[in-house]
Amino acid sequence: MNIAIGNDHVGYELKNHIKKYLEDKGHTVKDFGAFSSERTDYPIYGKAVADAVISGECDYGMLICGTGVGISLAANKVKGIRAVVCSEPYTARLCRQHNNANIIAFGARVIGSATAEMIVDEFFNATYEGERHQKRIDMIKQIEDGEL
Ligand code: RB5
Repeated sequence: MNIAIGNDHVGYELKNHIKKYLEDKGHTVKDFGAFSSERTDYPIYGKAVADAVISGECDYGMLICGTGVGISLAANKVKGIRAVVCSEPYTARLCRQHNNANIIAFGARVIGSATAEMIVDEFFNATYEGERHQKRIDMIKQIEDGEL
């Protein structure tokens, strides 16, 4: 799988850990920064990863900031993005299976590296189930398009 990743200064260390973890599992990872723990602004990286997913450059995205909230809010402003903040593996699996999430986000100040590993395993191994869920995904798009 081709995965876009991004983080702010708070997420930098956990990003490096999970980047290696994903690469060791055979994924191709494209890193959109930040590339240090120097203070920066999470919307930059949320937008960059969202654009990479929407353009098809990458299949899915992963975002990390302090809580996962700011960086996912920024990504969700890009049409077609369904970024989900997650602190445990159950939601990570279900947001792929039911919500067809295309970006997973989490907080470096909220979870540790072992939980982050479980979250990305569930997210990237799960498959969207479609069928009854598609109608609701279509309704989210209608909201985006001002039709609902
Ligand atoms: C940065 O201090 C912090 O606000 C950011 O990492 C993130 O948690 C925002 O949602």
